[in-house]
Amino acid sequence: MKATAAILYDVKEPLVVEDVELLEPGPHEVLVRFAANGVCHSDLHVMTGDYPHPLPVVLGHEAAGIVERVGAGVESVKPGDHVCSSYIPSCGRCWYCINGRPTLCALRDKPRYFLLDGTTRLRKDGRPLHHFLQVSGYATHGVLLEEGVIPIRRDAPLDVVCLVSCGVLAGAGPVMNCAKVPPGASVAVFGCGGVGLNTIQAARLVGASKIIAVDVMANKLRWAEEFGATHAVDASKEDPVARIAAIAGRGGVDYAFEVVGTQQTIEQALASTHRGGMTVVVGVCPAGTRLAIDPTMFLQQRILTGTSFGGGHQRTDVPMLIDLFMDGKYKLTELISRRLPLGEINHAFDLMRQGEVKRSVIVYE
Ligand code: CU
Repeated sequence: MKATAAILYDVKEPLVVEDVELLEPGPHEVLVRFAANGVCHSDLHVMTGDYPHPLPVVLGHEAAGIVERVGAGVESVKPGDHVCSSYIPSCGRCWYCINGRPTLCALRDKPRYFLLDGTTRLRKDGRPLHHFLQVSGYATHGVLLEEGVIPIRRDAPLDVVCLVSCGVLAGAGPVMNCAKVPPGASVAVFGCGGVGLNTIQAARLVGASKIIAVDVMANKLRWAEEFGATHAVDASKEDPVARIAAIAGRGGVDYAFEVVGTQQTIEQALASTHRGGMTVVVGVCPAGTRLAIDPTMFLQQRILTGTSFGGGHQRTDVPMLIDLFMDGKYKLTELISRRLPLGEINHAFDLMRQGEVKRSVIVYE
């Protein structure tokens, strides 16, 4: 069948929106008509070459849509079901899934630019196009793994809840699943964009007392306060580590979350925790990034860890966050600064580069 997709042919070049051929879903695959896909920094990392990836590729990994057809053997969804994409699939059978760590599923070991049989369902003039994280949501339709779609309630607006498929869960999950922040804790969040705002919001939801937002842009610090930060630190004007220690007392915060993806901010996050504190890395660093850490930090029992896709149970965490949103307990609509058609996708990335949007969403007819 025909679909319209945004194709990256070369790094540092704009995406090209054109018609492509989409093959029928194979066994345990699902054809989804996408309703919307959020614009995420991880896509930009591929476009800039910071995150090397086989080309050409159809990017996008924060999608929601409606199942149109299913391949042989698909049991967990049927045509008409509403789904979010799961850029980390969960097979339910591997050692990680069985042991309750489905965001570490063994399917991550397979190339994520092919489906599981090692081929792609996307063609342009007979030439294969790569998938991205087995989602490729910058397209009107996509063929995804059964393990890569998460059924969701039908009354949730797809052009809003698509955000949960990456940024929202990536930001909120570490608070709930990895750090398990208890009521009354002190928290610092480095990076207050479309992901970090969810870390802040989740910290407020679980009852953190001090929520210290750190960024270098005044508009992002303003957003942070709207999403629940109790203090804002402008790291372009003052040393965030010293300022956090002064606000938190005890030499630092209980939990620090790094949602930028740079050496400097990870090291600052670690240094902003007190002895025995925990730092969780959420930001995606350019390939080749290395840290310089004084091992004394570990002798003082600081913990440095990280997550992807929230580090919990994506198949239940995504519907859980959507329920919270539908109950009015979690802000999603307020995360969306712009809604754009696929034809304006390059503009959406320009806006993100300029730091002027929380999240943009590409919406399809
Ligand atoms: Cu993402």
